[in-house]
Amino acid sequence: MDDKDLLEAAIAVRKYAYCPYSHFPVGAALLCDDGTVYCGVNVENAVNGLSLCAEQVALFTAISAGKRKFVKMAVVCASDYCRPCGACRQVLYEHAPELVIIMGSPTGKLIKRSIRDLLPDSFSLPRAMTTDNI
Ligand code: THU
Repeated sequence: MDDKDLLEAAIAVRKYAYCPYSHFPVGAALLCDDGTVYCGVNVENAVNGLSLCAEQVALFTAISAGKRKFVKMAVVCASDYCRPCGACRQVLYEHAPELVIIMGSPTGKLIKRSIRDLLPDSFSLPRAMTTDNI
């Protein structure tokens, strides 16, 4: 799937965002290595701090379907070249350190960056400290 098609998927899903507090809908579309695509939108909550970003909803939906390898993600919001927030960068890096981020606009313009470029000197635990090895 090319970048434009993935961005179109993010644009299409964005209308389902639940954002009555920010009025700032975001759409995300994640391409897995097997060619499948999982989409997400931001889902807000009356309790501060419980809102989820579109990127995390897309990633967690894919993980919940058993997917573990990810190629690229398109993100779109109201402004040009929608930038994933810092928290999303950390969450995405954990699961896909080679991920490419397509930052789009509602009109289909886009720029691309690697997650490594967006989150330099990122945090991760040494392998020996993860629960896999306990
Ligand atoms: N939001 C996302 O969905 N992704 C981001 O990377 C940045 C922000 C959402 C969270 C909240 O629902 C709204 O945009 C305004 O911050």
